[in-house]
Parts: sequence; structure tokens; C-alpha cells
Amino acid sequence: MVGNGRPYCDKMNNTGKKLRLGVLLSGGGRTLVNITDRIKAGTLDAEVAVVVASRQCKGIQVSKATGLDVHLVEYKQYGEERLEEYSQKIAALLDAADVDLVIMAGFLSMWIIPPKYESRVMNIHPALLPKFGGQGMFGHYVHEAVIAAGETESGCTVHFVTNEYDKGPIVLQRSVPVLPEDTPDDLASRVFQQECEAFPEAIQMFARGEVKF
Ligand code: GAR
Repeated sequence: MVGNGRPYCDKMNNTGKKLRLGVLLSGGGRTLVNITDRIKAGTLDAEVAVVVASRQCKGIQVSKATGLDVHLVEYKQYGEERLEEYSQKIAALLDAADVDLVIMAGFLSMWIIPPKYESRVMNIHPALLPKFGGQGMFGHYVHEAVIAAGETESGCTVHFVTNEYDKGPIVLQRSVPVLPEDTPDDLASRVFQQECEAFPEAIQMFARGEVKF
């Protein structure tokens, strides 16, 4: 079983407590916007408790514009030799915000997941893992590699995060065709449309205590 199996969603537990999300990002913030849109639309029983950015990025402005509590913890200030400290800094912000589930929404730095958050961190990857995952495989590099390999199918994967790149248990996947004339941008936008369905669905499953393997 992944997650603690406890339902957070109002309809399930009647406590009025919503799933509190900690969002980690490093990029444009489109994934975050999709999540907040779903929450506003009433189709995702969660709230964004805190946002942490690993570098200066558009996602910070997007978070501020949405009125979210956003913090910058710059990976480059720490580097690999101070990874523990960097990870603890992130964990302290998640703790302070009383986060139930951490979601990596285009978060591109390594961090060490503290025991407290094991089984409570989800990532979205823009390919059908275990294919096209691992260190250095993110964003357009993934789509370029998929096209270069002559794949006819790609997609996205939501998975729980362990301290190994893209290796944690898969929650769900959605696939898309790769068309012969596709550029990496074409494929990225087709995959991203599916990401916008997959991530909220996986979070909602967690909120309802339905995520099991
Ligand atoms: C998304 O396509 C996500 O799948 C990818 O980064 C993009 C984030 O977009 N993540 C990875 O490649 C992780 N390996 P955003 O910053 O605009 O939300």
C-alpha cells in the first residue's frame, strides 16, 4: 500500500479537512496552475498549502499572482555537497505548512526525501516510465529522445518518489500517439494535455485513500 490509505476528502471522512499539498517546482508553473484550476472548479478536493521553488523561475510569479505562499530555496546555493541541508530546508517549509502530500510539479533538482514524507511525494514525468526516465531526462530532452528512438507511443506517468530518479511505484499512466511528423514541441504539448488529467486524478485518488499497489 502506498500512502497511508486514510481518506482526506470531505465527502469521504466528513471532517472538513482537505488534502494539503506542498508543491515543488523549478519551471513555468503550468502544472501548478492546472492543479489550482481544478481545485477552483471543485473537481479536486485539496488545497495548496505551500509552494517551494528550487530556482528563480516563472512559477514563482505564477504562485504569487494566485496568492499562494511561495518560497525560494535555491539549489545552487547548496549544491550536491550540501544536499542534506537543502533537503532539510525544504522539509522544514513543508512541515510548517502541515503538508499531507508533496507534489513535484516540474521540480528539477534532487532532494533527499525525509522518512516523514516517504510514500507522500508524487512526481509527474512526461514519458511512459520506466522508458525515458532517469537523471537528465526532463522536459524537452524526454520528447527528443522518444522521437529519436522511433517510438510510436508516449505519454505521462504519475509515480511515488523514492530517493532514486524516476523509480518509485507508478500510480497511473496516460498514453498518446507519436505521429511521424511530430517535433518535440508537438509531442510535448500532446503529452502535457494528458498530464493535466493524470496529475489531478492521481492526487484525488490519494485524497480518497484509494492509492494502493
Ligand atoms: C511537465 O511537462 C512535467 O512533466 C515535466 O516538466 C514539465 C513542467 O512544466 N517534468 C519533468 O520532466 C520531470 N522529470 P511546468 O514547469 O510548466 O509546470
